[in-house]
Amino acid sequence: AEIMKGQYDHFMQKEIYEQPESVVNTMRGRVNFDTREVFLGGLKAYLPTIRRGRRLIFVACGTSYHSCIAVRPVFEELTDNPVQVELASDFLDRRTPVFRDDVAIFVSQSGETADTILAMRYCLERGALCIGVVNAVGSTLSRETHSGVHINAGPEIGVASTKAYTSQYVALVMIAVQLSDDSILKTKRRQQIIDGLHDIPGQLRQVLGMDKALQAMAKDMLSGQKSLLIMGRGYQYATCLEGALKIKEVSYMHSEGILAGELKHGPLALVDEHLPVIFIMTRDSLYPKVQSALSQVTARKGKPIIICNDDDDSVPESAKVIRVPRTVDCLQGLINVLPLQLLSYHLAILNHVDVDFPRNLAKSVTTE
Ligand code: G6P
Repeated sequence: AEIMKGQYDHFMQKEIYEQPESVVNTMRGRVNFDTREVFLGGLKAYLPTIRRGRRLIFVACGTSYHSCIAVRPVFEELTDNPVQVELASDFLDRRTPVFRDDVAIFVSQSGETADTILAMRYCLERGALCIGVVNAVGSTLSRETHSGVHINAGPEIGVASTKAYTSQYVALVMIAVQLSDDSILKTKRRQQIIDGLHDIPGQLRQVLGMDKALQAMAKDMLSGQKSLLIMGRGYQYATCLEGALKIKEVSYMHSEGILAGELKHGPLALVDEHLPVIFIMTRDSLYPKVQSALSQVTARKGKPIIICNDDDDSVPESAKVIRVPRTVDCLQGLINVLPLQLLSYHLAILNHVDVDFPRNLAKSVTTE
């Protein structure tokens, strides 16, 4: 295992640093950047059925659930179909109604998560088309679904999922793009997304270059704090949830991802001059709304850290900022999650946590 880590101290760190390559592996042979088309062999025979489906139901746990949240807006936009995103355990608890013309997509790194497998069998019994988006080839989920897409991120060892998240995200966006390629109206948007995907690896590399600054930020602003809020909305809601999960898993610090639209319905009561708050406010159509959430926090003496685009000149002078490259709105979450992964990694080290094997957690949860 020491050799496999190569130049890195931990698998989590290695896997964070692998992302510029792992996302390329996810796209390899599937995205044609010249003709700007996506082709996923596993789905080909099922495309008509998926398109005829009455709705898309995404089912997953943990980080994999967050990748589903991340792509919900682009699926809604490109397929014009209702999209439901479910935590596998809750989906089963509710005995959610499922029909023959439903399309259910199960997302899992390991393909062995018990709740996700049970939810898949539940959907199979009800006649829904079941698709797996899985990293582990030959796993239960990839065997028992009708069809699927392997994310090809390579083995992930660290309990906290990092490269699987970005590869799931990319794979799911590719599915959305391929599903919509019968719509002429959406051609421009598809091409914009494919051009965006082309530049993602380089942009991820750019963010990795900020690691030293993020390490300092973890030490100076976050370590020793009781709690951390991560706020954003729209495409970035998933980034908030995933960032907070990373912090919890490996640093043992309490953290919560908050939809900025819900700020006044409770979380605002937590804000004071001490509580660290990270705002994810890269440029998209919801920017003004996130700006107003930010001013509500600063008005209560909160001291935010802002993740914004490198060309943004309207963030408050006084704020601490993390500047990241800009991409297409629906892909920006791929870039924005990286600083949060790195912050959580450094916080874990500062807190003397065994990062790759945090207490009480398992890489793959094979019991209900
Ligand atoms: C466990 C792991 C998480 C993972 C979740 C879902 O809780 O610790 O990192 O996100 O299971 O796992 P899966 O293999 O289904 O993606």
